[in-house]
Amino acid sequence: MAVVRVPEQKRKIDDPAEVTAFLAEADIDYERWTPSRPVSDSASAEDVLDAYRTEIDALKARGGYVTADVVDVKPDTPGLDAMLLKFSREHWHDEDEVRFILEGRGVFHVHPKDGPVFAIEVEKGDLIRVPRGTWHWFDLCADRRIRAIRLFQDVAGWTPRYTESGVDKGFEPVCLGPADIPARA
Ligand SMILES: [Fe+2]
Repeated sequence: MAVVRVPEQKRKIDDPAEVTAFLAEADIDYERWTPSRPVSDSASAEDVLDAYRTEIDALKARGGYVTADVVDVKPDTPGLDAMLLKFSREHWHDEDEVRFILEGRGVFHVHPKDGPVFAIEVEKGDLIRVPRGTWHWFDLCADRRIRAIRLFQDVAGWTPRYTESGVDKGFEPVCLGPADIPARA
C-alpha cells in the first residue's frame, strides 16, 4: 500500500481510502492490483503481463495506452546510477507515466502547480498513473530494486523534460519501508 507524505505540512497519509482520495484530488490515479492467478517473483515478463492482462487491458482502453512492458532494475544493473540520475531531477513527460509495481520500492515526488510538493512511496501491488505534464521526480529506496509493468501511449513521448527548477534538491528521497536509507547517488 502506498504511503503519501507532504513534508511542508509534516503530514503522512497511510490510510488506503485517504491515500486514494488525496491522489485523486491531485489528478493521480492510484489502484491496488492482484493477479488473476498466482505469479512468482521470478516469472518471465510474458507470464507477468498475462497474469495482469485483465487490469492492463482495462487501463489500456481507458487511457489510450498501446504497449505494456516490464522493467527490471537491480542493484547490479549496468548503468544504474546514470539511469537513476535521469529520473531523480524534476521533469515532466508528454505522456502519462504509468507504473504497476511488481517488486521493490520507490518514491515519486510530485510538484503540483498550486500546492506543496508531496511524496508517494510505492510498493508491490501499487498502480500509479502520473498524468502527462505533471512535474515530478523518482528515486529508488536503499535496496535499489524495482520491477514494474509500464504502459505507454507512445514510447517516444516518455522522454524526460527537465524543469531545472532546483526544487528537487530540497527533498530527501526517504523511504519508510523496510529500506529507509536514501538511494540517491
Ligand atoms: Fe518521469
